[in-house]
Amino acid sequence: MMKAAIYRKFGGPEVVNIEEIPKPSPRNTDILVKVLATTVSIADHRVRCLDLPKGFWIFGPLALGVFAPRKKILGMDIAGIVQAVGKSVTKFKPGDEVIALTGANFGGHAEYVCLPENDPISLKPKNMNFEEAVTLVFGGVTALSFFNRFPIKSGDEVLVNGASGAVGTAVIQIANHFGAIVTGICSGGNAKFVSLLGAHHVIDYKREDFTKNGETYDVIVECVGNASFERVRDSIKPGGVLLLMITDLKGTLSAWLNSKKSGKRITASQDKPLAKDLVSYPPKLGR
Ligand SMILES: NC(=O)c1ccc[n+]([C@@H]2O[C@H](COP(=O)([O-])OP(=O)(O)OC[C@H]3O[C@@H](n4cnc5c(N)ncnc54)[C@H](OP(=O)(O)O)[C@@H]3O)[C@@H](O)[C@H]2O)c1
Repeated sequence: MMKAAIYRKFGGPEVVNIEEIPKPSPRNTDILVKVLATTVSIADHRVRCLDLPKGFWIFGPLALGVFAPRKKILGMDIAGIVQAVGKSVTKFKPGDEVIALTGANFGGHAEYVCLPENDPISLKPKNMNFEEAVTLVFGGVTALSFFNRFPIKSGDEVLVNGASGAVGTAVIQIANHFGAIVTGICSGGNAKFVSLLGAHHVIDYKREDFTKNGETYDVIVECVGNASFERVRDSIKPGGVLLLMITDLKGTLSAWLNSKKSGKRITASQDKPLAKDLVSYPPKLGR
């Protein structure tokens, strides 16, 4: 048996309880990981209480469960130690220290999780402990899954809306690594943190509206849900890119048409996360 944080109905944090359930056992191509660290991300929150962007509440329950959650254990990422492997597993062995994205399968908020060996799983960086390493996964893989489609070039001016969050902090560091000039939008309290991560300029969204200051960017990365194309179009340089990590149904459906009409590239979809996105350092963009 194992302990897991289980939610059996949608709602606030109070719907999550620790329960004893059977420990999973790995099938042929699975690895069984003892979880030593995980995160509670915005995705856990959104799914637990069906806090979905406008329009998606129509489809959300179909995927997540109509009357009760389909998947009862949250947790999109883990860091831990491989305990056992299925007969056909070749990439990992018991004792390996790993980080992994459980992604839409969730299941990270448990003592053990089984994962197919070909999922986004990598050996844990040796210079980080489990708690540190797990913080790379959710935001880092999300950022790379967009940048793999729209690679950042040295000298690009990149604006990150929501720069202090899990995805925004990864975006700053990756963009910085590729030589971009990064502007981070966050609260004043997080300005120093965002600068330390590598943002060259920081704007406090409570003091200044970046869409009204006359500056333009090659890439705008939207990680908040308030920077629709309609709002930020004049802040994107001709031929520039808007990466919508979060948007409503209208924003998703109109991305292609708005791109055609404006000559600016807008996307709300990303590449499938791969193990490569956790392994490579320095990151190499593209597939
Ligand atoms: N497409 C995908 O596959 C995918 C994957 C992961 C996440 N997402 C989505 O991407 C979004 C970001 O995820 P996350 O994990 O980074 O969330 P997060 O950790 O909650 O970060 C959100 C950040 O937004 C900032 N913020 C709040 N109000 C703001 C405003 N008015 N202007 C600018 N910044 C503001 C907050 O900064 P302060 O604390 O400084 O106010 C916070 O750090 C979420 O909506 C999430 O659902 C999508």
